[in-house]
Amino acid sequence: MKNGEGTMTTKYIKWTPEGGFDAGELSQAARTIREGGLVAFPTETVYGLGGNGLRPEASKKIYAAKGRPSDNPLILHIAEKEQLGRIARGVSEKAERLAEAFWPGPLTMIFEKAAVVPYETTGGLDTVAVRMPGHRGAIEFLKEAGVPVAAPSANTSGRPSPTRAAHVREDLDGVIDMVIDGGDVGIGFESTILDMTESVPVILRPGAVTKQMLADVIGEVVMDPALMSVGSGKPKAPGMKYRHYAPDAEMIVFRGEMEAVAERIRKQVRSYVRDGRYQADEIGILAAEETAGSYAEGQVVSAGSRRDGTVGKMIYGALRKFDELHVKMILSESFYELEQQEAIMNRLLKAAGQRTIDV
Ligand code: TXA
Ligand code: MG
Repeated sequence: MKNGEGTMTTKYIKWTPEGGFDAGELSQAARTIREGGLVAFPTETVYGLGGNGLRPEASKKIYAAKGRPSDNPLILHIAEKEQLGRIARGVSEKAERLAEAFWPGPLTMIFEKAAVVPYETTGGLDTVAVRMPGHRGAIEFLKEAGVPVAAPSANTSGRPSPTRAAHVREDLDGVIDMVIDGGDVGIGFESTILDMTESVPVILRPGAVTKQMLADVIGEVVMDPALMSVGSGKPKAPGMKYRHYAPDAEMIVFRGEMEAVAERIRKQVRSYVRDGRYQADEIGILAAEETAGSYAEGQVVSAGSRRDGTVGKMIYGALRKFDELHVKMILSESFYELEQQEAIMNRLLKAAGQRTIDV
């Protein structure tokens, strides 16, 4: 899954909530960024692949390491509010209120870019995406680096986003300079992206900061219509047009009432096996902890619990697990009852290439 030859030695360092960083390692990580190298780091959403966001060569390196199309812009990560004014123009009063309410946290806002931000970082756009991550280790690292850090998710393009350092290693070992291992992330899917350049702000990617939460602070907010249905218009976040978050296998999401969905998936497995289309162990089942035990056949991977809301945290790890199991077809339950359903179902449906069966 790695890109390129993977010829460099990637250095792994640790950050823990109790002990923080080793001071020498932190300054090495910061220096690596300032000098144009790449450092993967934990955030509260997913791991990011960081480079100096003001240096064109660093952004180019990020695209090369990920194997990502260079028209897909990067998010600039900042540690202090004062940095925003230097990289963005026309920051509105609404944006100020949102930053006050949700930063540091899983909200990315899009503004007109300032001249210092190179087009290599914004994928050629005149706008720039900015966020202040809600992770103490990330903030410490960004402060020490002292520059806005461009960081997409630290996976190779097309793979599920990394929620632990081991996922980063799978994709980028030998390709980047350093990885900061901060353990498992807290949220497990990427930040909400809100376009502040429109008179009514537009959600370009749903995340843990929901439409309602945004509306409570600034009033009207709309969803990019391209997110709502398949093939209707061009999404404004370039990244949303690619088949993304994808496991190696084909995937179908079954939608409907929980018990009926589980019953329908069991039937689907039986008919695949009976027809000789797949063997039972070539079929993956993505199930909530509560229903995982109800499948007698197929390789069941738990997506977490519906009751305690761990589904978000575990979803990308579960998709990676299916790659390891070498399944050919994944049948997935759906997760509409959770507060984060918008974001979670968006990622699942993208992983499935929008293939669904309504039960
Ligand atoms: O939670 C997150 O946002 C993570 C962590 C690492 O911070 N980052 C992340 O980055 O998800 P990435 O590159 O995987 O996704 C960024 C998305 C892409 O869909 C990209 O097209 C969109 O943001 N984006 C970035 N700049 C944009 C801009 N100026 N206008 C519209 N969309 C933009
Ligand atoms: Mg990504």
